[in-house]
Amino acid sequence: MTTDTTTGAPVLEATGVTMRFGGLTAVRNVDFTVNSGEIVGLIGPNGAGKTTFFNCLTGLYVPTEGTVRYKGTVLPSKPHLVTKAGMARTFQNIRLFANMTVLENVLVGRHTRTKEGLWSALLRGPGFKKAEAASHERAMELLEFTGLAEKADHLARNLPYGEQRKLEIARALASEPGLLLLDEPTAGMNPQETRATEELIFAVRDQGIAVLVIEHDMRFIFNLCDRVACLVQGEKLVEGTSDVVQSDERVIAAYLGTPFEGAPEDSALADVEAAEAAQSTTSTEGDTK
Ligand SMILES: Nc1ncnc2c1ncn2[C@@H]1O[C@H](COP(=O)(O)OP(=O)(O)OP(=O)(O)O)[C@@H](O)[C@H]1O
Ligand SMILES: [Mg+2]
Repeated sequence: MTTDTTTGAPVLEATGVTMRFGGLTAVRNVDFTVNSGEIVGLIGPNGAGKTTFFNCLTGLYVPTEGTVRYKGTVLPSKPHLVTKAGMARTFQNIRLFANMTVLENVLVGRHTRTKEGLWSALLRGPGFKKAEAASHERAMELLEFTGLAEKADHLARNLPYGEQRKLEIARALASEPGLLLLDEPTAGMNPQETRATEELIFAVRDQGIAVLVIEHDMRFIFNLCDRVACLVQGEKLVEGTSDVVQSDERVIAAYLGTPFEGAPEDSALADVEAAEAAQSTTSTEGDTK
């Protein structure tokens, strides 16, 4: 018996998360919370640190500084243990088992929730048969839910791109998460597929699963999310309701590339622009200054 869907208690709490790669600080001192029942958006220009932040949350990276808690407990920094704890994700670059069927991909996603484990599931070892029927039933349920049931026997690699993204969501849901993290779920989708994905995410939330979603499609984000945070050059610049964030001039400036007062590392940005300008002029007729 869980009361998660009604309490609004924090599901995810990231505190002071910083990720450095050598001299580059990709994520800088980010505090971030997702509460139960929420759909939260993470936006920001290319290279802002969104995926890196996801990787810190999900155990793919060990943050240089900071802590990540799921339902009050500090998460282990191993992706499979994070999934087991209750956080599941999809990837910006789709990661499916291309030569497995759609159904098998979802069954693999269930391995953290079955005693049998991945290899037993794949090799159909002792104990597997017993759990197989229940797992199969749940996997088919998830394929119905995501609209892929008719393609259960197709190889994942033969699905159109939009359906591969849906299959990643089905596979993530198979681990029965309390928080689903989606990295650009509508990238490459047409408007109809995007709209269907929006409905799917609402339906996921209605099942009591909190959602954190990265996207560049602003219409999609502002329509979908209860709350949105904007990362710029690794720092959380603004956070608030869709209305607040979409009218914030700093967010608009960050997307348009216009400098604004207090922008993080303005000088660094200027250096890059100067270097790019120098490169393009040398390749034509040399330094014009
Ligand atoms: N493993 C890594 N090693 C070194 N630098 C990295 C690594 N991963 C990311 N970066 C750098 O960190 C910065 C943030 O990248 P990240 O992929 O997190 O951005 P993003 O906001 O997800 O961008 P996009 O919208 O293009 O997906 C970039 O400058 C990137 O080059
Ligand atoms: Mg990214």
